[in-house]
Amino acid sequence: MARRLDGKAAARAVRAEVKTRVGQLAERGTVPGLALVRVGDDPASVSYVKGKGKKSEKVGIHSEIHACPADIGSEGLGTLIHTLNERDDIHGILLQLPLPSGQGYDESKFLSMIDPRKDVDGFHPVNVGRVTVGLPGFVPCTPLGIQRLLLENDVEVDGRHVVILGRSNLVGRPLATLLSQKAEGANATVTMCHSRSRDLPEITRTADILIAAIGQAQFVTADMVSEGAIVVDVGTNRISTPDGYSLVGDVDFDAVEPKVAAISPVPGGVGPMTVAMLLWNTLLAAEAR
Ligand code: GUN
Repeated sequence: MARRLDGKAAARAVRAEVKTRVGQLAERGTVPGLALVRVGDDPASVSYVKGKGKKSEKVGIHSEIHACPADIGSEGLGTLIHTLNERDDIHGILLQLPLPSGQGYDESKFLSMIDPRKDVDGFHPVNVGRVTVGLPGFVPCTPLGIQRLLLENDVEVDGRHVVILGRSNLVGRPLATLLSQKAEGANATVTMCHSRSRDLPEITRTADILIAAIGQAQFVTADMVSEGAIVVDVGTNRISTPDGYSLVGDVDFDAVEPKVAAISPVPGGVGPMTVAMLLWNTLLAAEAR
């Protein structure tokens, strides 16, 4: 049976470290503050934001949810972001994505409005650029969480072939940047491929470490992985079942698991790491101040 890359355990370790350092900051008079901005009431976003708020409070980070109506408008949302940028008690700002469709919101415009020093999601072009050229900057939480998950499980990345399936700005692209850096926990040979890549199974089979972030339920089948590979599943897809719905990853877990050396489950793999690294980035933002 393949080893499980347990995201719940690794996230606990991260949170314990964050909690200690938040305590040290508090002794010096600073309570880290995180503003979670949600627009509209997409059920998944409501649940994610609530979870992020709860986990923040547990490590001593003050969190506040700004739940805006879907029709708050570009001006209203811009004003809120500017207000949060100006507040001394707020160190991190997260704008939950996606923004509601059909309202004409330009996501990249609002992400660029967040003060880069408070951009704990690492989506601001300034942070994307800084990280790309190896300067200090916020790294998006999911890629950072995947790197930490591998580290916590003693999975060596250095010199190995990492194949990333997916090229999104949230996961695939920043992860390729992160793992190919000349740095500890990186130095990987990275291939990024996607739905338009030719002969995908041929590419994914060459992976020592395969990271599935393509956003399609159970996309990775047994013929797409090599014996003994390590698989990280970033997907969280709701699929209908006779009893309601269930959450599945981008990997066909039952088919792939017997073939590989280690695999991250869904849920309980990358998901908890994303939230833990948000707390981590918020701590760094507060410490930098
Ligand atoms: N939506 C899905 N994942 C994320 C994330 O990591 N950050 C934000 N802001 N929105 C998301």
